[in-house]
Amino acid sequence: MSALDPVRLRADFPILATEMRGRPLVYLDSASSAQKPRAVIEATRALYEEGYANVHRGVYQLSERATEAFESVRPRVARFLGAPDPRGVVFTRNVTEAINLVAASYARPRLREGDEILITAMEHHANIVPWQLVCEATGARLRVAPIDDDGALMVDELERLLGPRTRLLAMVHVSNALGTINPVEEVVALARERGIATLVDGAQAAPHDEERGQQDQAEPEAGQVGVHVAPPAGGDEAAREAARCRGTNCAHQFTPASINTL
Ligand SMILES: Cc1ncc(COP(=O)(O)O)c(C=O)c1O
Repeated sequence: MSALDPVRLRADFPILATEMRGRPLVYLDSASSAQKPRAVIEATRALYEEGYANVHRGVYQLSERATEAFESVRPRVARFLGAPDPRGVVFTRNVTEAINLVAASYARPRLREGDEILITAMEHHANIVPWQLVCEATGARLRVAPIDDDGALMVDELERLLGPRTRLLAMVHVSNALGTINPVEEVVALARERGIATLVDGAQAAPHDEERGQQDQAEPEAGQVGVHVAPPAGGDEAAREAARCRGTNCAHQFTPASINTL
């Protein structure tokens, strides 16, 4: 990969040409809200000025064109993610909605009293609260894999917590609070060996190439975020079907949630 050229990169972001308190803007809050490059701003402007209409529901030309444009993104996102089937790419408004969708449609109908959901001690609220609600509704138990004093996931402890009642492992790839990069490939393999479904919160990993290397699937550019879900090895066709083509009405931002059917 060529060296990062920050001057060239800055030029892609019009907001970085503005000043704050008389000095060139330096923006450090991308983990919470990423600034948009010119290409994104222009595509959004062109959509509203020239192509905006309801997708999937209108029987007039503008709507058909909008639907075509909308659907043309799905296979491109699938290619980018390394997803085997574009139908496994689901657009949601944000990661919180994607995780809640999985919690409500996949976990809630399947979990029973005494089952367990395993998360880690470094999860964002978006990957805690939906599971707390599932546990409340089903009688399942939420378990938490610990981290060490350096903020690293204690993989041995996590493995110990993957028990016979564990039905789902939900973990973050890159921690928004600590910057920790978790060995998701290794940990997901541990779960899948045991027939446990996995959900990876890829929100902060989205802009980084390592996602592709580690999971054979990757997230789109900055500002777009994702969740990967893998049903247990051996496959759960009903779960995959339920996930397909759901939530296709995308609001302002594309958030791919890729159902990984590997
Ligand atoms: C690791 C992580 N997960 C989930 C979220 C929630 O993302 P969203 O605001 O897209 O729902 C964030 C937001 O910063 C995050 O950093």
